[in-house]
Amino acid sequence: MKNILVTGGMGFIGSNFIRFILDLNQDFNIINVDKLTYAGNPENLKEFTDKFSNCYRFYKNDICDFDSIDKIVKKENIEYIINFAAESHVDRSINNSTTFCNTNFMGTQSLLNAAKINGIRKFLQISTDEVYGSLDFEDPPFTEQTPLAPNSPYSASKASADLLVNAYYKTFGLPVNITRCSNNYGLYQFPEKFIPLMITNALNNKKLPVYGKGINIRDWIYVEDHCKAILEVLLNGRIGETYNIGGDSEIANIDLVKIILKHLNKPESLITFVKDRPGHDLRYAINHDKITRELNWKPNIKFENGLEITIQWYKHNENWLNNVISKEYLKYYEHQYKNR
Ligand code: NAD
Ligand code: TYD
Repeated sequence: MKNILVTGGMGFIGSNFIRFILDLNQDFNIINVDKLTYAGNPENLKEFTDKFSNCYRFYKNDICDFDSIDKIVKKENIEYIINFAAESHVDRSINNSTTFCNTNFMGTQSLLNAAKINGIRKFLQISTDEVYGSLDFEDPPFTEQTPLAPNSPYSASKASADLLVNAYYKTFGLPVNITRCSNNYGLYQFPEKFIPLMITNALNNKKLPVYGKGINIRDWIYVEDHCKAILEVLLNGRIGETYNIGGDSEIANIDLVKIILKHLNKPESLITFVKDRPGHDLRYAINHDKITRELNWKPNIKFENGLEITIQWYKHNENWLNNVISKEYLKYYEHQYKNR
């Protein structure tokens, strides 16, 4: 059995990863540590608690709390740590960056110390392409050699964590990898993020707030493709290396919104152009040649297919949506779009 500590496993990508790895029915023991912030939802893994009770355990803890993490690592004989836990929404980091610096940087430091003290086999930091900053339309995609140039408090906190992970590799010889992935979409994504927000607003005939002129480009990857890449890097990634992960699916926000409306048979008059996000990165695009060459990974799910699956899921999972849309979220949403 491989004992893997997954942090942030009640969030979007973490819960998809846990579902993916347990469904493989291989020798994995998954220990999920999550603080259950607004973005962490036990419903995301409800059916798994019973089905996999012999190889899955959950601890409600903050990754910044070193003593608790150290105890769990010892008690569960942890050999691998995958750090998904983070504050992950750029707009919230613009409103207030404190929790972003605490969780994304200090939380990573606490996990690195626990990994170092307990001599684990691999520490995998789940990072983001946003640490590279912004591309112009004609620029080549980000490679692993692209200098770090984050623009938002979110991406700055993630870039800082990446630097610390590499420092623990160089200074202490801690066996680490970093993955930097582009924008994920799929099931169980919190509705503040672009794709689920546009789907759920369209379903409710609410306005679809597009920042600026909608010309910003993102590269979208179906979350399951990301999960497969993470497992490859965990098991076979060369120690000390960073791997870019991308979906080969660049699209401008406005074009994506129009596709979603078409799928749902809703009018384009629902689109409303709102004030742009401060420091809004123009374009992200990923060169994933390294992981393709070294680990034989490439994205499999075509964007049209992944989007269709995602739209259908949100259409048929109203209970899940009602569950995650808390009073806190409604307050956030109102504040976010009031002045735009
Ligand atoms: P998410 O916001 O959906 O989930 C984050 C999870 O972390 C939640 O379950 C939350 O409760 C937990 N968490 C937050 N602070 C914590 C703390 N202090 N201690 C323990 N748990 C805590 O995020 P996501 O979209 O699933 O992203 C997961 C990771 O992937 C993040 O590190 C993010 O930077 C990275 N990433 C995300 C994307 C994307 O498109 N969503 C793309 C590339 C990389
Ligand atoms: P988001 O899902 O927040 O991811 P990120 O900013 O980390 O890439 O946003 C994706 C894109 O969609 C980004 O260009 C900002 C834009 N956007 C809107 O136009 N309207 C919105 O309401 C949101 C949340 C995002």
